[in-house]
Amino acid sequence: MEHDGTRPGYGSVVPTDHELLTQVLEWLAPAGPQAMHLFYGRLFEAAPELRDLFPERIEMQEERLLSAIVHLFTLFDAGDDAMEQLNNELARFGRSHTRFDPPATLKEYAAVKTVLFGVLTEMLGDKLTPQHSAALVRCYEYVAGRMLAAQATVKLTDRDRRRRTV
Ligand code: HEM
Repeated sequence: MEHDGTRPGYGSVVPTDHELLTQVLEWLAPAGPQAMHLFYGRLFEAAPELRDLFPERIEMQEERLLSAIVHLFTLFDAGDDAMEQLNNELARFGRSHTRFDPPATLKEYAAVKTVLFGVLTEMLGDKLTPQHSAALVRCYEYVAGRMLAAQATVKLTDRDRRRRTV
């Protein structure tokens, strides 16, 4: 996230995570819906037990996730106000991931990460430099960490939960 602008030995300005993620979004734009479709297909192959937690019409979920990704990538590392907005969004997202019981687990966040990064790598191919990949990892870890922290603040006694069947 924080960069010192120029670093000895590099000789040029080091791009911020915000710049790197903005570029990823530009590359992803023409194929965003296709990427989300691939993502859920692969996620349910890897973890079939998750399917029933999602709405039957997965197209709606694909759209929601794509707009969340665009939103989160746009706010990440984009200054204090943007980070404050991001943190508020992530607190909300985290709480919404306790609507089912047990809530989303660390292992599931890791599975989502593996599948998502697999799809991004496949779709963006050689365009993704190590710098872009590192920015993606930092962003994902931040997002997942904040969501999990928000999940942990929701009391177990809250009513509006669906018990998992598997
Ligand atoms: C960083 C990772 C994740 C992001 C950014 C993310 C984002 C989202 C978004 C934007 C939605 C739709 C709006 C909402 O309900 O808040 C959603 C719904 C959902 N997510 Fe995630 N999610 C992540 C990880 C996970 C994980 C690990 C699980 C594992 C169980 C999961 C399960 C679900 C389910 C079941 C729904 C649908 C809930 C419903 O409609 O009742 N998500 N997610």
